[in-house]
Amino acid sequence: MNIVVTGASRGIGYATVKTLATEGHSVVGTARSEDLLNTLEQEVPHKINTFVADLTDDESVDQLSSHISSTFAKVDVLVNNAGGLINKPFEELTMDEWQNMIEVNLLSAVRLTKAMLPQFDAGSHIINISSMGGYQESAKFPGLSAYSVAKGALTTLSECLTVELADRGITVNALCLGAVETEMFNAAFPDFDAPVTAEQMGNYLADFAVNGSTFYNGKVLPVSLADPG
Ligand SMILES: NC(=O)c1ccc[n+]([C@@H]2O[C@H](COP(=O)([O-])OP(=O)(O)OC[C@H]3O[C@@H](n4cnc5c(N)ncnc54)[C@H](OP(=O)(O)O)[C@@H]3O)[C@@H](O)[C@H]2O)c1
Repeated sequence: MNIVVTGASRGIGYATVKTLATEGHSVVGTARSEDLLNTLEQEVPHKINTFVADLTDDESVDQLSSHISSTFAKVDVLVNNAGGLINKPFEELTMDEWQNMIEVNLLSAVRLTKAMLPQFDAGSHIINISSMGGYQESAKFPGLSAYSVAKGALTTLSECLTVELADRGITVNALCLGAVETEMFNAAFPDFDAPVTAEQMGNYLADFAVNGSTFYNGKVLPVSLADPG
């Protein structure tokens, strides 16, 4: 399969790309950190193709989309995994921080998905990586309002795209992850041990990327042993 994964420089995205490429799939992995992407590319040469892009920047995303279309005749799966987290009380969050959370967790996925629409075909699958914080009626955690709101909007986007893209045979799902041991998680919750490693979640996402659209469409699925996430 031809698979695109954002947020591939570390954490869950890195692990997902590594598993997919090891299984023989062709992967384009993207993020801003060129050095980390170079390390990833060396993990499974010939199967991992990386491209440096800032998903909050229109021009950068257009360049990424062109790179993907020149690499793959058709994209089977897009995993919108890139994200960022700010853990701060609502009272202290600045408007810049709110805008940053919406940009990196919601609009980045909007921007890339829109740019790549011509590259999807019947059978293509878009997977949006959300959070339990953005899962309706889940327990909420202090300090995660901007992050959770942005992730909640991403899950709603997934449901909206499902109906808009249905006549083209494109499948869309959102996965709401619970706590996973990554740099993002450790920086936000230094006193909390996540019960799942990035490698374990990467294996799960790789399997979902390959098989998920056989069983799910338009779903918002919790993938969680423990919150926060
Ligand atoms: N870890 C958890 O417990 C947990 C729980 C629920 C949901 N999630 C979600 O899972 C996803 C992966 O999280 P993670 O824990 O693996 O985080 P991470 O280790 O911090 O990785 C985040 C990735 O996103 C990329 N990224 C951030 N801003 C970007 C931008 N402007 N343009 C392009 N790429 C950008 C980063 O790469 P560069 O910095 O190199 O650009 C990095 O590869 C996120 O969407 C997160 O919200 C994680």
